[in-house]
Amino acid sequence: MEVQYDAEYLKRYYDAYGMKEWYRLERNAEAKVSFFLHQHYLLQHIQRGYRVLEIGAGPGRFTLELAALGAKIVVLDISPEQLRLNKRKMEQEAQLHAVEQWVEGDVTDLSAFSAAEFDAVVCYGGPLSYVGAAAPKALTEMFRVVRADGPVLLSVMSLLGTTRRYMPSIVELAFQYGLDQVDRVTRTGDLIGAVAQNHHCHMFRWAELRQLLTQQPCEIIAASASGFLVLQDPDANQIAENNLDLWEKLLQWELFYCSQPGAIDCGTHIIAVTRKL
Ligand SMILES: C[S@@+](CC[C@H](N)C(=O)[O-])C[C@H]1O[C@@H](n2cnc3c(N)ncnc32)[C@H](O)[C@@H]1O
Repeated sequence: MEVQYDAEYLKRYYDAYGMKEWYRLERNAEAKVSFFLHQHYLLQHIQRGYRVLEIGAGPGRFTLELAALGAKIVVLDISPEQLRLNKRKMEQEAQLHAVEQWVEGDVTDLSAFSAAEFDAVVCYGGPLSYVGAAAPKALTEMFRVVRADGPVLLSVMSLLGTTRRYMPSIVELAFQYGLDQVDRVTRTGDLIGAVAQNHHCHMFRWAELRQLLTQQPCEIIAASASGFLVLQDPDANQIAENNLDLWEKLLQWELFYCSQPGAIDCGTHIIAVTRKL
């Protein structure tokens, strides 16, 4: 893996990103499907009263969902600004009581927490994609702090789905920066160099993430792409969004399609649900 983990860079990146992160999951049909799928797995695996560590929570899209499910949440993020926004959002939504504490911290070092102290861990939206060769260490930390039988839910950037989704831009980048730069990203999944445009991360293949998970004391309960049908045609998405019956059906189709073995790699992210053994 060529992505060099730079915690200070990430902190600055997400501090500057601010509330753009909040709008990421509502800006179009594709984003709404991604939200729906991530939320679906929380609904399935987080029970009322669970004490949950949410890693890389950002401004709180899923913190609010966890609160609605009756969880008691410890919010952890590398970015002080994202933590501030998260706290503000919980306050605006009268959900401050659901959060035990906001912790500035790093997914690769959860030493502030004891072994097995959480009922569940949620790490949605890519912290694992940012830590380069420290991804196994981060996973080991997540499975250390969750109790036996507890679910660990995570999502990472997906190489195949992202490449397919952004093919028109990739062609442009090849002309702008040279074919070698683009070729290296598509071969390795490491989004680095000029083509990364300051967003350095590793995009995973499902086989690669699954291999990392097999090294942990866990079983994989579910895996899903975060969007399959909606990555095709924005005009069709728009029509679906404007027709409630069609939209409801589309969400159900996505749920089914995205979890098929042939589709898990095909979304912009890969969602994995595991249970600690
Ligand atoms: C793409 S946002 C995801 C936010 C939210 N979980 C979601 O899915 O909507 C990634 C978040 O992870 C945080 N993050 C990135 N790297 C991290 C790390 N190494 N440790 C902890 N948090 C990290 C960022 O600051 C940011 O808030």
